[in-house]
Amino acid sequence: MGRIIAVANQKGGVGKTTTAVNTAAALAAMKRRVLLIDLDPQGNATTGSGIDKHQLERSTLDALMADLPLADCIQRSPEAGYDVLPSNSDLTAAEVRLLEAPMREKRLKLALDVVRVNYDYVFIDCPPSLNMLTLNALVAADSVLVPLQTEYYALEGLSALLATVQQIKDHRNPGLEMEGIVRTMHDPRNNLDNQVSAQLIQHFGDKVFRTMIPRNVRVAEAPSHGLPVMLYDKSSRGAISYLALASEMTRRHVSQPARAPA
Ligand SMILES: Nc1ncnc2c1ncn2[C@@H]1O[C@H](COP(=O)(O)OP(=O)(O)OP(=O)(O)O)[C@@H](O)[C@H]1O
Ligand SMILES: [Mg+2]
Repeated sequence: MGRIIAVANQKGGVGKTTTAVNTAAALAAMKRRVLLIDLDPQGNATTGSGIDKHQLERSTLDALMADLPLADCIQRSPEAGYDVLPSNSDLTAAEVRLLEAPMREKRLKLALDVVRVNYDYVFIDCPPSLNMLTLNALVAADSVLVPLQTEYYALEGLSALLATVQQIKDHRNPGLEMEGIVRTMHDPRNNLDNQVSAQLIQHFGDKVFRTMIPRNVRVAEAPSHGLPVMLYDKSSRGAISYLALASEMTRRHVSQPARAPA
């Protein structure tokens, strides 16, 4: 049964999509069966997986709102070795339409229930807000992976996110866990980065992944080629870090006892 991981942080530009795409690709390279769900109308995870977001016959919107089976809306990333449920700006409509829809917070969960057996990992790339789409992700997920840029305001946003996660755990999805916090765009020569990083470990201990993702220009260049960084430049520091992150994640899952089925 696939582990469903929502990649979320309501702060924009912290590396959610980059982390979702590159961790998905790293796990696919490690022979795991992976589905990446683009739940952001910006469609960046779609583009970054080599799929043209302007030419989608079916997308996340159809799986959420048109009751099409989710499996019928999935495409294969041409090179990255994982499946994608793609999105584009059409998904903006869902933010509003979901408010009036039956089972409005559970629609992604229900759509995923049928296909999750086909995967080892399902990543959901969330938009930069705590809206109805993100709520659907958190209700569907087994865990939340939080990319965090080690800068001054990072911790402030984090407490709002953690409060939301706790509310969802209390009322809607009791099994929801913290997958962990991953430090992104890290610059070890920057004092502030190091201070925030130390504070994070003080507060969250081993919920902070040991692997840090450095700021690396190859990571930023790869999406314009429709490729994860490990296919764009496999020897770059970015590629090596995302592979390390994926291995750390799989090791954690092995060392934790499996959860009993609900
Ligand atoms: N490790 C990195 N090194 C260099 N650039 C990076 C790195 N990680 C992300 N970036 C760049 O930073 C920008 C923001 O990253 P990304 O799109 O992944 O963030 P996001 O949290 O998904 O943003 P949004 O909130 O808009 O969805 C992008 O231009 C991306 O290429
Ligand atoms: Mg994004």
